[in-house]
Amino acid sequence: MSLHSVNPTKTESWIALEKHFQEIKEQQMQDVFEKDANRAIRFKIEWQDFYIDYSKNRITDETLSLLLKLAEELKLKEAIGKQFSGKKINQTEDRAVLHTALRDFEHMKPEVKDTLQKMQHFSGEVISGAHKGFTGKAITDLVNIGIGGSHLGPEMVAEALLFYKNHLKTHFIANIDGDGVAEKLKNLNPETTLFIIVSKSFTTQETIANASFIKDWFLEKGSDEDIQKHFVAVSANVEGAKDFGISEENIFPMQDWVGGRFSLWSSVGLSICCAIGFKNFEAMLKGAFEMDNHFKNENFDENIPVKLALISIWYNNFFQAESESVVAYSQYLNKLVPYLQQAVMESNGKSVDRNGERINYQTGTIVWGNVGSNSQHAFFQHLHQGTKLIPTDFIGFSESLHGNVKNDNILMANFFAQTEALWEGTYNKNVENPFKYFDGNKPTNTILIKRLTPKNLGSLIAMYEHKLFVQGIIWNIFSYDQWGVELGKTVAEETLSAIDNKKPAKIGNPSTANLLRFFLKNQQ
Ligand code: F6P
Repeated sequence: MSLHSVNPTKTESWIALEKHFQEIKEQQMQDVFEKDANRAIRFKIEWQDFYIDYSKNRITDETLSLLLKLAEELKLKEAIGKQFSGKKINQTEDRAVLHTALRDFEHMKPEVKDTLQKMQHFSGEVISGAHKGFTGKAITDLVNIGIGGSHLGPEMVAEALLFYKNHLKTHFIANIDGDGVAEKLKNLNPETTLFIIVSKSFTTQETIANASFIKDWFLEKGSDEDIQKHFVAVSANVEGAKDFGISEENIFPMQDWVGGRFSLWSSVGLSICCAIGFKNFEAMLKGAFEMDNHFKNENFDENIPVKLALISIWYNNFFQAESESVVAYSQYLNKLVPYLQQAVMESNGKSVDRNGERINYQTGTIVWGNVGSNSQHAFFQHLHQGTKLIPTDFIGFSESLHGNVKNDNILMANFFAQTEALWEGTYNKNVENPFKYFDGNKPTNTILIKRLTPKNLGSLIAMYEHKLFVQGIIWNIFSYDQWGVELGKTVAEETLSAIDNKKPAKIGNPSTANLLRFFLKNQQ
């Protein structure tokens, strides 16, 4: 049963939204806010440890009610049901999309349970030191070799949950850049390092090349038999991993219904599990599971991912905002943006709809950002006084983990102050100097969470996963394929052959051929 497919711009609610947009596009919404004493109370959602304030947006009750009608008209509820029940909603790859099944503690599939048990056992052995390297020493360093979804999620979580981390040092090798790999290996001891090769396909050029290079590096000290103590694989391609030389018991399987960019909950999370222990990993899955239930069961009006998705569509498709930014006021979350960039932009950067027709409206948002308060001293000028509209998510936590309350109060004062300054500006104030005038009216969502715990992090990530799903449904696109990255891979193979054979003339494009000539002449 396929997903409903309708051009959203032809729906009654979209047409009504266009009309409504004309009415409010110039409005200084601070005025509306001021007249409505209850706005801050009505335009917020409290859920578990989360407080989501979306009152500082260029929306009214009518905007929200039209956006909710749009979701209804485009059969969002039905689509959510299809996703969670395992229908093959990734139609272009003929696959179900079931990363939610990896954290479904009510109906856990036996294969998911088995893999979790295997991860629990293995990570326990590595952490306790029972797993020994080839000279009998315990493991001290873990290296995750993988790229894209096989890297960004694990690295982001390992960094975000640093507070909960054990003694193992965690490293990530993703880029094929040989210098980068050499820099990482420089400080590693093959006797005490465990390499986790993560690749769903086990064919990704960068990962296989890096893993092969590292295997050779390892074999300068260890023997072929020692490989089993130092290399494990995470893959849906068990045969590929075996061919590489990994024994079957060292392969952690994953299913084809887990998309790469949604896979941190699966065996792809093995490095997370080793770094923070299984209990914390499980708590993160539980947090995601609770967000799944909220998303599945809550009325759209009180539904966090649905609300955030619809508000983002309002800016993207009506205000024609080109991007949105995410600023987390926590150093721990400094890898959140690269993670979201893959999740959101690989999913929704599409220009053909579910009928195979070219699209004549904007889809996927461009996501960018960094951590606060650093960002205030970098790109915030543009948010405050630039000509572009950049809706921003502010993420912050009430409790500090290390108890440095003095610093954290300053951090959070900035967090609250920025959304207020962006919203209020100096509008209605008597500012004569035009350079010091701020329009305000700059939209933000505030996502305030009690404490950065594994569970809350799980909920936060799942929130963004569901947000992008909702947007894909509304835009009538397939969010779970990524054909766009394939062409580049093919061209790179042809280019590599031209480089290896020193034959730039084999490349048809004159610009590339000339660049290759220059490159080859100056190599080494
Ligand atoms: O090239 C894009 C992509 O297919 C991503 O979707 C994926 O996360 C990444 O490559 C890595 O793929 P694999 O896990 O198969 O190595």
